[in-house]
Formats: sequence, C-alpha cells, structure tokens
Amino acid sequence: SESELNAGIEDGVRRRDFINIAAVSFAGVGAAAVVLPLVNQMNPSADVLALSTTEIDISAIQPGQAIKTSWRKQPVFVRNLVAKEIAEAKAVPLGDLRDPQTIDERTKPGKENWLITLGVCTHLGCVPLGAAEGENKGDFGGYFCPCHGSHYDTAARIRKGPAPKNLVVPPYEFTSDTVVTIG
Ligand code: FES
Repeated sequence: SESELNAGIEDGVRRRDFINIAAVSFAGVGAAAVVLPLVNQMNPSADVLALSTTEIDISAIQPGQAIKTSWRKQPVFVRNLVAKEIAEAKAVPLGDLRDPQTIDERTKPGKENWLITLGVCTHLGCVPLGAAEGENKGDFGGYFCPCHGSHYDTAARIRKGPAPKNLVVPPYEFTSDTVVTIG
C-alpha cells in the first residue's frame, strides 16, 4: 500500500541519515585526534604556559660563572656572583639607579650570590651578553646589550643606555640547595 511504501522510504531516509551522521562523527573524531596534538605542540595554551616550571641544577655553576637556560620560551640567566660583585652592587646609592632596587630585593635571603634574571633586555627585547659568554660585560660588570648598548650592573640593574628597567627577576624558589625551580 501507499502508506507502507511511505513508511519504507522514511525508514530508508532515517537509516541513511544515521549512517551519514555516524560517518561525519567518526571523521570528526579522527581529524580532532590528529590536529589537537599538533596545535598543542605549536601553540601551547596560556594555561599550559602558566603551569610550566623549569628546574635548574645549579651545583656545577662556580662562583663567577653563569649559565643561560630558558623558561616559558624566554632566556634566563643564572649567575653565581662573587663577593666583590655583591659588594659592588651594594655600594651603589639607590638614588643613582634608574629603576631603584637593592640586590636584596633581587635575590633570596641567605642566597645573595644567586642572581636569576630573564635574559631579555627591557629596551626592545634583545638577549644581553654576560659572563656566560665570557664576552663584553659592559661598563658595570653585569650584562651588556649589543643591540643599542644598554649596560646592566652586577645585580642586572640598568645603569646606562636606553633600557628603562632592570632585567626582570622571574618567580623562583630554591627547591633544595642545588636545585632552583623557576615558575
Ligand atoms: Fe637592548 Fe635595545 S634591545 S639596548
């Protein structure tokens, strides 16, 4: 009968819809499974970055030495200052500083020899040179930015040149005597 025929057609249509929807869903899942890891790798979300920390073994960094590492894709300098460099930083009157900060404000109590800063010039973001490169440490014994000649002192405070601010001290903790965790 005509009504049976119509019912049969409707069933057929519904079944095809289901098959089409199922096919699309599977394709969707497959594509997402392939694409998501790529996206995560290329462009980590703010949440992932916000959680990322960097552990640094500082046991091999001798007094007077520095290493360059990275945290959240930015260079980080970890420098083991000698007593003379700490004394030099302490001798500078705060009034002489463009961005006044004591060395104590830039280090941890009892660990004043460990100077940890981002290796990002506060002028336009070049990577300054320092003890790690054994190169030009500038006029103030700290870091020197080769891009436009900013000089930072032994506490990585801006002393000369166009940079407006000291090298940034990132959040960090001493997880043990030999391990620093940044972030
Ligand atoms: Fe360092 Fe300009 S970027 S002085």
